[in-house]
Amino acid sequence: MSTKDHPIVIAIDGPAASGKSSTAKAVAAELGYRYLDSGAFYRALTLAALNAGLPTRTWSSLTTEQVRNLAVAATPVGAGYDLSIAGAPVGDEIRSSRVNAHVSRLAAVPAVRGWLLDALREAGRDGGLVADGRDIGTVVFPDAELKIFLVCDPEERALRRLRQRGRPEPDVRQIREEARHLLERDRLDQSREIAPLIKAHDAILLDTTDLSLDAQVGAIVRLARARARP
Ligand code: CDP
Repeated sequence: MSTKDHPIVIAIDGPAASGKSSTAKAVAAELGYRYLDSGAFYRALTLAALNAGLPTRTWSSLTTEQVRNLAVAATPVGAGYDLSIAGAPVGDEIRSSRVNAHVSRLAAVPAVRGWLLDALREAGRDGGLVADGRDIGTVVFPDAELKIFLVCDPEERALRRLRQRGRPEPDVRQIREEARHLLERDRLDQSREIAPLIKAHDAILLDTTDLSLDAQVGAIVRLARARARP
């Protein structure tokens, strides 16, 4: 049996900018699977809450109905999902520093996590999915056939994120500043009560600090093919 005859769920978790999204997308393409970026859902909800003018101090007590009223929707398109707010595509603004600064606060809200859990699980119902986030292997898909926990040195993560944003040669000060933001988000994600960022006991730890994207994708694809065999 192959990964196609026996489609599995692959969960990729890890701290901010550890390479989850690019790795998950490439693994999905290699296996012909669907790709789910769970962080993009939290980002879209954060953007919607900010645009709706909901004061951040009230976020912790948001109700399911208020979350639903943010009108974030996901439509399967190609191998992934397109996200929209009230019918309009979310665009790059979900990656802005404004959203970065607030997303972990919204992601800690119980009504937000409860509402998303069903949507995310529905996407993986038939297998053939690579999903990345913070709690995919622990909470969303605890029975995933393959779980990976990616880690990476904070300054290397900061460098990759700055390059992604079009700064090929950032200086030491910029790298340290970006690393500080990433570590602060990790701290919030690790210390929240609900679905904290933590390695699942059965996840495989992969340190990407000195790995190329091709090498880390290849390693996960090989593991997936081995797991899909009966
Ligand atoms: O790509 P990056 O690592 O910067 O972050 P992301 O995957 O887009 O996730 C953005 C934020 O959403 C995280 O910092 C978490 O606060 C939250 N998140 C979460 O709580 N649970 C998930 N499964 C995925 C993201």
